[in-house]
Amino acid sequence: MESEPKKIKRIGVLTSGGDAPGMNAAVRAVVRTSVAKGVECVGIRRGWQGLINSDFVLLNRDSVKHILPLGGTMLYTARSDEFLQNSGRAKAVITCKMLGLDGIIAIGGDGTFRGALELSRLGVPVVGIPATIDNDVGCSNYTIGFDTACNTAIECIDKLRDTMQSHERCSVVEVMGRNAGFLALYVGIAVGATAVLVPEHKVDFQKDIIERIQNSKLAGNSHFMIVVAEGAGSAVDFGRMIHDAVGMEPRVTVLGHIQRGGTPTARDRETATRMGYSAVNAMVEGRYNSIIATQEGGIVEIPIEEALKMKKHLQMDRYRIMETMQLGGSTTLLDDF
Ligand code: F6P
Repeated sequence: MESEPKKIKRIGVLTSGGDAPGMNAAVRAVVRTSVAKGVECVGIRRGWQGLINSDFVLLNRDSVKHILPLGGTMLYTARSDEFLQNSGRAKAVITCKMLGLDGIIAIGGDGTFRGALELSRLGVPVVGIPATIDNDVGCSNYTIGFDTACNTAIECIDKLRDTMQSHERCSVVEVMGRNAGFLALYVGIAVGATAVLVPEHKVDFQKDIIERIQNSKLAGNSHFMIVVAEGAGSAVDFGRMIHDAVGMEPRVTVLGHIQRGGTPTARDRETATRMGYSAVNAMVEGRYNSIIATQEGGIVEIPIEEALKMKKHLQMDRYRIMETMQLGGSTTLLDDF
C-alpha cells in the first residue's frame, strides 16, 4: 500500500538573497493559497538568518492585503553566512520544530535554493520560487523581478539618451546581472544601444565598442549608448578606455540598486501569483524538495538537486539581433532606436 503524503498543516515562507520586485506578490499568493487550503502560514523574516533566529510573524489574508503592487519584500531579506554552516542549519531545524512548520517555501535565487537543498537533507520539506532581477536561475526561463528591472533600466536609459543626444555625447551605462548578461542584453535591445557588453561574449574592445561607435557615426549619429553588464567589466574602465582610444569624453552611469526597486510589472505580479499558488499546491499534495519553474511559459516542478545543476545560456540569437540593429545603419540622428 502506498503511504499517504505527510499532512501539511503549517508552512513557513521566506524571501532570501537580493530582493526583486514581485517578491511581495509571491508572498501574498503563498499566504492566500495556504488559507484557501486550510494551511496556516508563518512568515519568516530576514531569510535563512531569520529561520536561525526564530524571527517570525503569523500571516493571514489581511496581513498581505495591499502588498501586491509593492516593490521590496514585507518579510525583509538577508544573505546569511551562518546558514552556510552545519551549526546554523541545525538551529534552523530547531526553529522549524519549535514553530511546528511542516515545510518551507523559499523565494529567491540559486543561493537561496542551495540553502533549501541543505535544509531538505535535514528532513525539512522545501519548495523554491525563483525571484531575482538577474534572471540567472538555470532551471527556469523566467525569474520574478526581471521584467520590472528591465523596465526600470530602460526608463533611466531613455532619460540619459535625451541629454546624450542634446550634447552629442557617448554614454556608458552599467546594469546589474551578477555573472549573467540577460538584463544588459534585453535592455540593450530595448533602448537601441550602440553596443552591449555581456559576460557570455568575450569583449573585443576594438570590434565590439570602437568599430560600433565609428559605424554609428558614419550612419549619421552623434550620440552613442554603450550598455555594460556588471559581469562584463566596469563601465568606468570602459569609459576611460574609450576616451584613450578615440578622445571622446564618455559620461558613465552605474544604475545600481535602483534596478531592484519599484512597483512590479504585470508580468512579475502575474508570474509571482502563479508560482506562489503552485508552490503551496505542490507542498500540500506531497510534492516537495523542488523548484517551481517556468518552461515555455508553463509552470513545472523540478527536484532541487537536478534544478541546481541545470544551466541556462544567454540567447546569442538575441545578441546577433542587437548587433544587426546597429550595423544595419541609419541616416538620421535618432532613428537607430
Ligand atoms: O542578485 C541580484 C543583485 O542585484 C545582482 O544583480 C548584484 O550583483 C547583486 O545582487 C548586488 O548585491 P548587494 O545587494 O549585496 O549589493
